[in-house]
Amino acid sequence: MAAPHHPLGQVVPIPNPIPSSTDRQAIVERYRDLRLHGLKVDPEAFTSLYEDEVKFPYKTWQSRVENSIAKTLVAIDPETDQREQIEDKTYVERFGSNYATQRLLRQEWLGIATIIGPVRFEGQSDDAMVTSVKSQLHTAFIKDGQYQIPDPSTVENDDLSDAHAVFLIVGLFILPQARRRGLAGRLVEASINSIREEARRKKVSKASISIQVAPKNLAAQGLYKKMGFHVSEKAIVMNSRPGGEERVIGLEMEVNLGSES
Ligand SMILES: CC(C)(COP(=O)(O)OP(=O)(O)OC[C@H]1O[C@@H](n2cnc3c(N)ncnc32)[C@H](O)[C@@H]1OP(=O)(O)O)[C@@H](O)C(=O)NCCC(=O)NCCS
Repeated sequence: MAAPHHPLGQVVPIPNPIPSSTDRQAIVERYRDLRLHGLKVDPEAFTSLYEDEVKFPYKTWQSRVENSIAKTLVAIDPETDQREQIEDKTYVERFGSNYATQRLLRQEWLGIATIIGPVRFEGQSDDAMVTSVKSQLHTAFIKDGQYQIPDPSTVENDDLSDAHAVFLIVGLFILPQARRRGLAGRLVEASINSIREEARRKKVSKASISIQVAPKNLAAQGLYKKMGFHVSEKAIVMNSRPGGEERVIGLEMEVNLGSES
């Protein structure tokens, strides 16, 4: 029997802020459910543990969705649109003003990725890079072997004009039944475009994206290389899990600020 057709999916960013508290709660819960599902089915792909995050209170999930220096993109399945609800007047009234929220609430979520940043990169200058000093881009977000997401107020008040800004992509996950159909590629492409827009808005001189991948995660490494990333560091030490250190591979790309990808 032929494999069932699966739609390609579309990418929708989670709006921030989400004005209606009912919509906000519904979206935060969907984000939480997909994130926890990812940690459960692919524990080796992430540095965080399901056992830890399942204990997070609702407030923690809400603050992730509402973090002003984080943007989560969702791959949705347009074929799951519950069209009959469009006929429902109260539904249209409730969602009419916010198209992204409406789509996120109506359609099945197939995958997510979160962009964090921009953060000023205080590392080596380009001259130092020529002398093959490692870029160490990951140090903008990883300290003492742990992800440390900067305080949004510090980042927001930092004038990045003419600076080298670095962004992080984390939490990329596609439901197993929706894989190998280009969805992660779409999420990463949308992330790069969003980063380019933000970098231009902040008038940075250079924008880079940093990503960390487990050494055995060949799928993610293959994906990121296909999207234009290169390996910059082969063994970043992380100690975020109990039971000792692990090493992850650092990949990065410089975003071309002059053109769409
Ligand atoms: C990695 C992951 C996000 C890829 O999602 P996906 O939607 O299947 O990826 P795409 O269909 O967009 O694939 C794009 C490219 O990535 C590479 N790729 C994807 N899955 C691969 C696999 N299992 N093996 C080898 N290469 C793979 C291929 O180059 C592929 O291009 P191709 O299909 O033309 O060969 C998905 O497997 C996943 O969610 N894994 C668990 C979580 C995870 O690893 N997250 C990343 C954390 S860094």
